[in-house]
Amino acid sequence: MSGYGTESAAIVRAARPGTYRLGLVLGSGLGSLADEIEDAVRVPYTRLAGFPVSTVSSHGSELVAGTLEGVSVVVLSGRAHYYEGGGADVMRTPLETLKDLGCETVLLTNAAGSLREAFAPGTPMLISDHINWSGLNPLIGEESEDRFLDMSAAYDADLRDKLKARAKEEGIALGEGVYMWFSGPSFETPAEIRMAQVLGADAVGMSTVPEVILARYLGMRVAAISTITNYGAGLQAHALSHAETKATALTAVDALKRLIRGFVRDLDT
Ligand code: HPA
Repeated sequence: MSGYGTESAAIVRAARPGTYRLGLVLGSGLGSLADEIEDAVRVPYTRLAGFPVSTVSSHGSELVAGTLEGVSVVVLSGRAHYYEGGGADVMRTPLETLKDLGCETVLLTNAAGSLREAFAPGTPMLISDHINWSGLNPLIGEESEDRFLDMSAAYDADLRDKLKARAKEEGIALGEGVYMWFSGPSFETPAEIRMAQVLGADAVGMSTVPEVILARYLGMRVAAISTITNYGAGLQAHALSHAETKATALTAVDALKRLIRGFVRDLDT
């Protein structure tokens, strides 16, 4: 079972020939980083084979190939989520495309709810590990033995060290913790948030986990950063909303961009 990665990569290569080093998946609030890519070619997802177009208002729908800090990158500005159509492998073709274009590393970003007092809204959190609470898996239906994928070091330790070192240099308070995937699109209940705390999660969200599984399956190194946009349900006085997710994500965007630029510069060190 495979998607249309080869076809889509050929379309990107025809628009901008080259080999790429790093894939960046931009979640809520980070879309403006795509505008900072230099020597860029932008390809709308509608022109790529098998690319899902996100229905989420804070997500764009284009692939941007170019350079960032002198490194060849492919940016996926906007992602699709399981909850949009019910396919856990909805990001398979986009990730295959990154792989086919030569990206050996992928940095995934998202917005997430915090389960820890110390991780206040606006804080970036490096993901150290995840809990897949959805019961879903993008590799279901895969037939090769590769489906029995080792996930014991899914979030690359070396990449995490680089991000932590860069955050320190930049004076950015970067949390680190476990991300728990809920399918969404409704937010969690307070009881579910208490359960997530008991089970060892630090943040909850509706994306990224299936992408990490797919990226590891494809043999890419993975790093992932959440922007904490709210406290989990029941941990804050007011109701949760996507409007809050979008607005708070924007407050953290400058720090996150600095962190990502530094990370890109450090890629070879
Ligand atoms: N829960 C799930 N996903 C989220 C949240 C949340 O509280 N905040 C931002 N994305």
